[in-house]
Parts: sequence; structure tokens; C-alpha cells
Amino acid sequence: MLPPGVPGMPASTWRLRSDAWEYLRFAIKGIAAGGGDITADEEIFRSLGALETLELYWAGFGQRYVRLVHELLLDGEIEQALDLIGRVVYRLRRSSVPDDRRDDPTDDAERAERANDVDPRPRFEVLLIDETTPADRDQLRAELLRMRSADDAFIYEYVVVPSADDAIAAVLTNPNILACVVRPGFSDRTKQPLSRDLTETIALAHEQGGNTTSVPRSIPASVRRVVHLADTLTALRPELDVYLMAGAHIEDLAGTLSRRFRRVFRREDQLELHLSLLRRTSHLYDTPFFDALRDHARRPVGVFHALPVARGGSVVTSKWISDLADFYGLNLLLAETSATSGGLDSLLSPVATLKKAQSLAARAFGARQTFFVTNGTSTANKVVHQAVTSPGDVVLVDRNCHKSHHHAMMLTGARPAYLDAYPLNDYAFYGAVPLARVKQVLLDYRAQGRLDEVRMITLTNCTFDGIVYDPYRVMAECLAIKPDLIFLWDEAWFAFASFHPVTRRRTAMAAARRLEERLRTPSHAAEYREQQARLTDPVTGDRAPDEVWLTERLVPAPDARVRVYATQSTHKTLTALRQGSMIHVHDQDWHRDAEEPFHEAYMTHTSTSPNYQILASLDLGRRQVELEGFDLVQRQLDLATNLAQAVARHPLLRRNFRVLTAHDLIPAQYRETSRPMPLRDGLSSMWKAWATDELVVDPSRITIEITRTGVDGDTFKHEYLMDRYGIQVNKTSRNTVLFMTNIGTSRSAIAYLIEVLVKLAARFERERAERDEDVPVVDAGALPTLPDFSEFAPDYAAGAGMPDGDMRAAFFDGQQRGRVEHVSPTELRARLARGEAPVSAGFVTPYPPGFPVLVPGQVISPEVVEFMAALDTREIHGYDEARGYRVMK
Ligand SMILES: Cc1ncc(COP(=O)(O)O)c(C=O)c1O
Repeated sequence: MLPPGVPGMPASTWRLRSDAWEYLRFAIKGIAAGGGDITADEEIFRSLGALETLELYWAGFGQRYVRLVHELLLDGEIEQALDLIGRVVYRLRRSSVPDDRRDDPTDDAERAERANDVDPRPRFEVLLIDETTPADRDQLRAELLRMRSADDAFIYEYVVVPSADDAIAAVLTNPNILACVVRPGFSDRTKQPLSRDLTETIALAHEQGGNTTSVPRSIPASVRRVVHLADTLTALRPELDVYLMAGAHIEDLAGTLSRRFRRVFRREDQLELHLSLLRRTSHLYDTPFFDALRDHARRPVGVFHALPVARGGSVVTSKWISDLADFYGLNLLLAETSATSGGLDSLLSPVATLKKAQSLAARAFGARQTFFVTNGTSTANKVVHQAVTSPGDVVLVDRNCHKSHHHAMMLTGARPAYLDAYPLNDYAFYGAVPLARVKQVLLDYRAQGRLDEVRMITLTNCTFDGIVYDPYRVMAECLAIKPDLIFLWDEAWFAFASFHPVTRRRTAMAAARRLEERLRTPSHAAEYREQQARLTDPVTGDRAPDEVWLTERLVPAPDARVRVYATQSTHKTLTALRQGSMIHVHDQDWHRDAEEPFHEAYMTHTSTSPNYQILASLDLGRRQVELEGFDLVQRQLDLATNLAQAVARHPLLRRNFRVLTAHDLIPAQYRETSRPMPLRDGLSSMWKAWATDELVVDPSRITIEITRTGVDGDTFKHEYLMDRYGIQVNKTSRNTVLFMTNIGTSRSAIAYLIEVLVKLAARFERERAERDEDVPVVDAGALPTLPDFSEFAPDYAAGAGMPDGDMRAAFFDGQQRGRVEHVSPTELRARLARGEAPVSAGFVTPYPPGFPVLVPGQVISPEVVEFMAALDTREIHGYDEARGYRVMK
């Protein structure tokens, strides 16, 4: 039975748990110091009630501990209760030094507990799933403490739950769990009071696990349920290490189940299990390149090569620049080396530590191959384009993609066919490209007999503003039209998504894996045959009209090729030094068709002196996400939701700002679920939206509309947020500001932002009240309409109404001085009025929005000129206000 006021165990507990313990400590400390009546403080008992539910899924203390604290308080044993509460708080704060312990423990058990509390080694938790008695659990704990050795690099503790439901609840709510031990004695259903959200999420998780389970019929039901649970847990958190501890017939089980379980143990092999758990964690912890670099830095080395800063050579003895070492520390210089031997490795031809670091990253991100890139995703994109496309290939590309894609095609000679995203004219930015649009373009190429020329499609997932595609669906439907299409997903802003059970499914690598598995199943083959009967006339072989292909959810042929690349700016959303990026590959034709060109492309764009500090940081960033990625991403999403809620609820904020929701950012036809901010309603609501909607919004990004403040986005960013309060944001539009949270965002940072927004809102209201009526305010209606891509000029266009063009030819024509003239906007308007069709000689890219409104060879339309005239951005690349547009003569 839940105590009054306790809503049941929610799907996200990290904040609730630490708040409840912190509150108890604060309140009881006050009572201990100044007297006061415990029973007068209802919050104390509410916290205890909440903790009794929460602690089931966390190691170390548990429900019994909370009950003990409760009893001590009721008995008036305040000091003793405070000691117990203090222990938890030290642990939660990750501090190993108790600050107000009074007495020395007298018995051994107590001494061991206290030694455990202050043990400074990194600690993780292991989930054990079985029906157990309190005596079993005590014994397990005692055995564990006995097996611990001073030589172990890490320590762990058990979370023991009785049922499959509880196991799912535990891995969803407790990110410290890194391994699971399944014993077949577990029951199915939980007896815990869980929130509706968590109950629904558990049901969804069971369903997903059921979808991935394919066990031979010969296997008995008792084993099937074990397999189902293992699949469910792994689908939620693939980084978990799952062991089976069984009694009889373990040799038979080992043969059947080895894919699911890291190892199968007998009950009495506790020590083996213990060693396996520690060893596996040390594999996650392993950072081969960082370790090699650190070793190298400690070795005495003579440098008779390049790089005078190596080992501080040119710096520490300098009269003038020794502050370089003072500021960065000597280690930076000790770690600067151009060596590729002595434990280090060559990025261009890795065989040792870098090779290993990259393969660990592939494991972490669910890729088949991963490549480190030291010059950002700008370079990563160029590598992939060059690796898989050739001059003359058609590449479908979203118009508002990053400029590196345009530059890549300028270099490769591939012909871009731009796909326009739906515009969000009220906020002056773009959404995403609807799948129906992509399908239509592919069908148009098919109708023209040119489908074989279409080689690749590249889409930005998620977009800068946080609109997220469903890569599984996009790839499946595109492959149904063009079975060998290659996909490049620009995940510059989405590296974090691999580490949360809901966001992961929309990463390119997870989708590729799922698609490949699906294509192999007999049920898929049946589904394909059944749809083909509708799409193609069995007698004449004629295809059904395009409308049918557009409305059906297309099923790809079972032999379609899964060829998927993802580029990620690791540095943008995870721990890595600036420019640290990765390319992840899941390409079924890698060895046959891509590996060699990829390596040539990688050589083309990679420096022969790659920055080792960036590479080491990628190695460390990978370690971090494998060990605590879920924790960090869950916090990030929660904090962002908190910010959104604060803006929606606070009367002053609500009057001045508005958080844009899925209803504002995604037209209704691309959503099946109806909630405007799914995560605000709970994890299950987010799960459903992310499982079904064509497009969803990344909840870690909060776009706030500021029209009512009377200030435009750029002024808000520079003059208000940065200059006055030191708050940095990146993207604004005329009337919106984008606040991004990341894994480094803290609760204090969110609190500060809310405080600043409140101050600003108060100020805007005051200014509005005192405003001179004669001074106009920003008029949202005057925002320029975003121009679509017009078309390539006839010299470069494909003709026959097809959208692709030879941008490389246009670019190099535009490089010849004699072929280009500068034309002022006024003159350009005059030419347009005369019916001329001026052609851009170069790229013109305003920031924001940050993508080219003109590319070489593009016809300059009246809409582009009007858009540029209305823009008030500070930075426009490729356009010189004094000289005007660069136009082909
Ligand atoms: C969608 C997208 N792709 C690629 C890039 C380039 O990434 P990097 O800064 O790592 O070179 C960016 C940069 O903002 C981007 O927004």
C-alpha cells in the first residue's frame, strides 16, 4: 500500500531520490540541533514513503533500510537515524568522506559497512533477478563483501528484484546497473506500487522484447521466458552485460542461449561470476589510445623530429610564452607528439591502439565499423560522400542540410537533387523533409528511367531545431523503391541518442540493425509478397499509380541492401574536444563495394598530423557513454522537460515566452500520437510517439517563442542573454531562441536560466508598460517567407523537370573571374522585373538559418532576393553588402 501523497514509482527517479534523502537529512539535522517535533513535519514522512518505494531498485540500502530509519525516528532515536541518512547522502554526493560521524563502530559488520561507504573506487550495480528471502539477500551481500579484494579496480553491489516486471523497472530507473544476473526462479509480475507511466512503459518494453525474441520451438516454455527477459533487458540497454545462473542442464542451455548471455554459470560459481563482472567492467573502462598517450607522456623521449612543443621543448624555457604551459598544464605538451610508434598508432593506417579504440566505439554506438575524425562532422560528411558517390551520381539531399554536404558535392561532382523541408513560416525556420516528398522524388526518377543514377540520400537527423526522423521507416520505404540506395544520416546533433532506450531507436545504426534483422525474417518476406500483389499487376506486370505507392507504407524486398552511414559531432553532444567526430558504418556491401574507396576518401580528408588530444578525448567519451551514458542522457531529457514546464507554469514567463511543442513544429499529418510534449506526460507517452510518429521533437531542445517580448531573436541572444547574464545560446530566428541541454547541463544551470528568464520577463513587461506608443515593436507578420530551392539554370540542370544539377561545373565556372560579375540587390530586382533569370555563381549562406539560400548554378528567384532583403542577420557568407551578389555573366 502506498503512503498518502506518494504517486507510485515513476519512470525517472534520479532527482526524486536524491531530493528525498537530502530533505530528510536537512530536516532531521534541524530537529537534532534545535529540538522540534518530527510528527509536525509531514514532508519527512512523505519522503520516507517515497523512498521506501524507490529504494527497491537501488543497491546498497534498500527498503529495509528506509523502514529502519522510519522506526528510529518514531522511537525518538534522532541521532541514530541521522547517521543512517548521512550514509546515503555521502554516497549520493559521491563523496567518500563522512562529515559528521560521531562514534567508532563496535561490531565487524558495521565496520565493513562503513569501509564500504568510504571506498573511493568507482562503483556500479548488478541486478539479480530471482525470488529471494531476506536471508538469501543477506547471504549474497556477505558473500560479495568477502570476495572483494583490495586489488579490484571497481566495486559493485547487488540490486535484488523478484520479477521480470521489477527487472525492467530497475534497468529503466537505475542507470548505475551495468550487469544483470538472471536466475530462472523469478516471477513475472511486480507487487510494487508503480506509477501508471512506469507500468505502461514496462508493458511496452515487454512488447518490444517479444518482437526481438526468436527462439526455436523445441525450447521449453520455462527457458523461453528467460530468453524473453534477456532480450527485453538488452533491447532497453544494450550495454548491459547479461548472465544466466542456472542449475540443471547448463551445458544444453549454454549451447542454445549463448547469443543472449555473456556466460552461463552454475549457482556455486559465485567467484567466477564475480571475476566476470569485474573483467567486463574493466573492458568498458579500457581506453586504449588515451592510456597509450598517457604512458607515452611519462616516458623520457628525445625528439629529433617535428613538433617543437613536444615535451614542452620550445615552451618551458621560453621567456615569452611560458604562460602556455602555465595555462594548459605541462601534460598537454608532454602528450603532444608526432610519434606513431611506442604504443601510439597512426590514424591513417591504424593497427594497434587507435584501431582498438575505434572498434570499442563501434561497439558502443552499435555500428559495424567506426572511424574517428579530427576535423568535425564537416570533414566526416565529405569523407562519406567521396567514399560512396561518383561524378554524375544523383544525391537526394535536404535543402537545409549543413554546408559540408554542398561542399562535398561540389568536390565529388555528384548532382544534388534538393528536397525542400516543410517551412515553419511563423518562426522563420524549416522543419524536416516529409517522407512522401522523398518517395515522390524517387518515383519521379523511376518514371524518367533514371533511378539507377540515384545513389544516395542524405538527411539531417535530428535537425538543428530538434526535429527527428524515423530512419527505420524512411530507409524501409526508400529501399522499396530503390533497393540499393545508400543512406547518409547526418547525426551531428544526435550522438547522445544512442544511450537512451527511447531515443536510440531513431539513430541510424539502431535502425539499420533492426532493418537488417527484419529483412531476414519469413514474416517480412510474406508481407512483401502480399504488398507486391497490390503494387504490381500480376498479369501485365504494370505498376499501380504513384498515389498507391505514396499512400501505402512500402515494404522493401527481402534482398534489399542495408547500406547506412552516420556522421556524428561527438563534441557537440557528448564528451570530446572540439572537432572530435565519428563516422559509424553499417554497410552490408562494405567489403565488396565501399571499404577501399572509403579509405581513399579518409586519406584525402584526414590530416597527416591528426590531433592526438582530440582522439584521446573520443576514446574517453566512449568510455563515459558506455558506463554512464544512460544516466547522463536521462538527466538531460528530464532537465529540459523541467525547463519547459517552468516556462509553461510560471505566470510571468507564460505571459512573455512560449515553448514550441510538437504541435507547433510538426504538422498534424506527420503525427499519429496527440500529445504536444510527450515526455512531459511520461516516458511511455514519449515511447509511443517515438515508436509511431513520422516525425518527433527531441525533448532536450527547447525552442522558445519570444514575439511578445518585443525583442528579436538576435538581440535577445546577444544583448540580453550573453551580455547581461553570460548565457550562451547558439541558434535564434527572428522570433525564437533555441535552448539546448546536453549531458553537461546541471540542475543549477537550469535554475539560473529560469531565474534570468524571470528577470528578463519582468523587465520586458515594465518596458512595455512604459513604452512610447509611437515606437513600433517587432511585427511577427513581417517575417520573410523562407524561399524554396528555385532550380538549377538550364546550363547546369538535368532538364525534363528533374531537380538535379551539375553544381560542380557551376562552381568552377563561378571561380573564373571573367565569367562573374557583382550585382547589387537593386540591379538584381530590375533584372528580375525584366524577366531575366540571373544565376548565382557561388554559395550564399546567412547565419541564421545557416544553410545556403543560393548555391552555384541556382537561378536567383524574386523570393530569394526578398528573403535576403528582409534578413537582419549579422553574418552572411558569400555575400558582400558593398559589392552585391556574385552572378554568372
Ligand atoms: C547538421 C550539421 N552537420 C554537420 C555539422 C558540422 O559539424 P562540425 O562542427 O563537427 O564540423 C554541423 C555543424 O553545426 C551541423 O549542424
